[in-house]
Formats: sequence, structure tokens, C-alpha cells
Amino acid sequence: NAKKFFSTELLHWYMQNKRDLPWRRHRDPYYIWVSEIMLQQTRVDTVIPYFQRFIERFPTIQDLAEAPEEDVLKLWEGLGYYSRARNLQAAARQVMEQHGGEVPNQKDAVFHLKGVGPYTAGAILSIAFNQPQPAVDGNVMRVLSRYFLIEDDIMKGSTRVKMETLAEELIPEGRASDFNQALMELGALVCTPKSPHCLTCPVMEMCTGRIEGREDTLPVKKKA
Ligand code: ADE
Repeated sequence: NAKKFFSTELLHWYMQNKRDLPWRRHRDPYYIWVSEIMLQQTRVDTVIPYFQRFIERFPTIQDLAEAPEEDVLKLWEGLGYYSRARNLQAAARQVMEQHGGEVPNQKDAVFHLKGVGPYTAGAILSIAFNQPQPAVDGNVMRVLSRYFLIEDDIMKGSTRVKMETLAEELIPEGRASDFNQALMELGALVCTPKSPHCLTCPVMEMCTGRIEGREDTLPVKKKA
């Protein structure tokens, strides 16, 4: 069964190949949250030093909530997309007021945090709280579209919904945190946008895109 094979082999591969990243050393939901906001539009290598400086200066949600906005923006300098920093601080204040300073672990509450969309909410709930929620970004859509030969336009909302349903089904019992990070890791290290490294891929044997020689043409992304 292609789904079971995918989940089992990918998880196994991840446990042996995962990168040692600063936000993987803790399971503090606040750290996971900050890392996911930074990683939204920025590469891992760039994010690492910013992440470290950020949590050194603002080790808790309270520190972030109470800081002058200009201090937050100063630390964000060079990362770009400054609305991410403003929203993050606004959301930290929201967490202080509405959730006693703890990142909520309820789906609806996480979705209501400023700057948190479906991807980030799924990432926080799965990575930090090990809840079986999908976290589907562009990397994950690329991996799934290739393995399952899904030719729907990834710019469509309905395609994202389809991918989220699939991604949720794939999560092995009790392993949401590792599995979702495994999907991201495969997309980052092996199933890359250009010339994917199929020969080192743990799920190549059953990858429909590869079998059909279509991996280079997926995902399908029509111009807006
Ligand atoms: N890209 C988005 N989230 C990530 C994570 N948690 N680890 C590595 N790369 C990512």
C-alpha cells in the first residue's frame, strides 16, 4: 500500500537524516512558533542566526509582548517581510491577554493568532503538541504531488484542501511531530524543486511521479 509505505519509510529516513536545527532542540511551542514564522519566506540557513538572536533577546512570550516594537523590528532587520515581526509581537500580546502567556493548543485558538494561517497553525499543533494536524506548504505540496502524481494546480484553494486531507491521512499514529518535519525535510533535502535527488530518496520505489518520469513537471503551477 503506497500510503503506508510512504509514511513508514519517510519517518524511518527522517530519524536517521534529520538536521540538527536550533528549534529542533526544544519543544517549547513559542520557539516552534517563532521558527515557523521566520521560515515562511526565508531559507533555513538564513533563519538560524536570526532565530538564535531572537530567542536570546526575547526568551519568553512575555519578553516579546513587553518589548518596544522597534527592538523587535531591529532584530528582524535583514529578514524582510516586516509584517511578520509586527504580527508576531501582536500575537504575543494576544497570548498574554487571552491565554495566560502560554501558546494555546486548541485549533481554533491557534488559528486566531495574528499572522498564523493554516500552514503555521498546523505546524505549531503538530510539531509542538504532536497533534495529528497537516502542515502543508509549498515544499509539502511538491513532495505529495510527485509521489501521488497529483496534477491539480497548486495555486488553487481546492488543491490545498485535497493535499491537507491527504497529509492528515498519512500521519502515523502518535508521530505527527516527527512525520510533519520529515515531510518538510524531504522537500528541503531530497525532493527539491529542480533536479530532485531521486536516487537517495527513501520512497523512490513507489513514487508515481518518478515511475512515470514526471517528477520534473510536478507540481503543476499555472500562472495566476
Ligand atoms: N521549513 C518550514 N518549517 C521547517 C522546519 N520546522 N524545519 C525545517 N524546515 C522548515
